[in-house]
Amino acid sequence: MKPPNVTKNNAPGHPRPVVIAIDGTSGSGKSTLARRLAKQFGFNHVDTGAMYRTLTWQCLRHNADCNDPAAVIRTMREMKTEFPVFDGRIRMFVDEANPGEAIRGEAVNQSVSLIARIPEVRAWMVARQRELIRFGSLVMEGRDIGSVVFAETPFKFYLDAHLDARVERRSRDGYSDQLKQRDILDTTRRVSPLVVSSGAYVMDTSANTPDQTAALALEELKRRGL
Ligand code: DC
Repeated sequence: MKPPNVTKNNAPGHPRPVVIAIDGTSGSGKSTLARRLAKQFGFNHVDTGAMYRTLTWQCLRHNADCNDPAAVIRTMREMKTEFPVFDGRIRMFVDEANPGEAIRGEAVNQSVSLIARIPEVRAWMVARQRELIRFGSLVMEGRDIGSVVFAETPFKFYLDAHLDARVERRSRDGYSDQLKQRDILDTTRRVSPLVVSSGAYVMDTSANTPDQTAALALEELKRRGL
């Protein structure tokens, strides 16, 4: 395996890399908070939703039916992945391609929750996500980071906001998304549904600015020893 092109970035007083886990509903502000915390601590940022989206994009461009687990699993096993780091963010490329903004499109929005409920897909994603600790300390955002992927980390957040606020944020970012529908699929799937993991610091970000959310999170991390 090629060594990662980043220096190790352990937090002061922590001899081993640490993980800040940020879970929550779509549009609750996870990415904004994750980017800010990653910058503040000099950790690498991983958007695990982008990994599920990238597999969905790969299935769509290879005409694999996202409703057919066998077709999705075959596509997943055949693809070649790389995890390059750009500007403090670890991305996932497939078959040497960077899917870029295509993973935020309507086609991917509509199918991503279908592939995210396939147990073999989740097992593959969790294994890849755990391996990313080779890059050093991480801020990892998703749905199951504090409950499954890095359940042992003491640095966990769960973000939520009223549906109206979340829809408004997505449209301000220039995206349209069936958030309610995805919330239902994400919280009711059999394997690793979105849950508030034990020990997570829960934040309702409905009325917060990104600065306020970040300030609260930093205070909590300090309290927890980071
Ligand atoms: O965070 P996002 O909206 O980009 O995530 C896209 C989808 O991926 C979301 O509907 C649920 C799924 N997902 C997941 O199941 N587990 C994760 N750790 C991250 C995302």
